Amino acid sequence: MDDKKILFDGITKEILECKKCPLHKTRHKPVPGEGSLDAEIMFVGEGPGRNEDLTGRPFVGAAGKFLDELLASIGLKRKDVFIGNVVKCRPPNNRVPLLSEIEACKPYLYAQIAIIQPKVICTLGNTPLNTLIAPNLTIGRVHGRVFKKDGFTFIPLYHPAAALYHNALKGTLKEDFKKLKEYIENLKEKNL
Ligand code: URA
Ligand code: SF4
Repeated sequence: MDDKKILFDGITKEILECKKCPLHKTRHKPVPGEGSLDAEIMFVGEGPGRNEDLTGRPFVGAAGKFLDELLASIGLKRKDVFIGNVVKCRPPNNRVPLLSEIEACKPYLYAQIAIIQPKVICTLGNTPLNTLIAPNLTIGRVHGRVFKKDGFTFIPLYHPAAALYHNALKGTLKEDFKKLKEYIENLKEKNL
């Protein structure tokens, strides 16, 4: 087993036993995140919804199906990327996680990022944008742009669930995925 997997499995074990915030009381299963530990692209959502809470897997509901389609549109499968969330336990009724819950859970996400070392981190919606990039930005203004922070590269994207409510955002997300693909191809041409 390589070093990355040992470290990652250690974090996962901590998450599965975690009681650092009140969300542990209402969760069924924590959702640590899954995918390739060598992923070039990491996607970060807000937190588990109902289906995720029941299965322990990220993005398995309707939003996840659309995320799979978006990945396929740029020639990728789930196993090629890593998919995680800001908080690992479901907030009741899918409410936005509280700042105190995000603060409690954030070290797990940072540890996952440090292990995986993705070339690009795509935040999905406002919660990961405000947590990882800057608290004052809104996704409507910054989606598809490239941000650099703490040695990492970020491309904020709309949350796929938003496109299920607002059909017009489907095209926006597809275009932003094309930009993501071009960004990655460009890095490869430059051997970065
Ligand atoms: N929405 C999220 O933000 N994360 C999931 O895992 C599923 C839906
Ligand atoms: Fe722990 Fe995060 Fe779950 Fe809170 S949301 S109990 S901090 S794993």
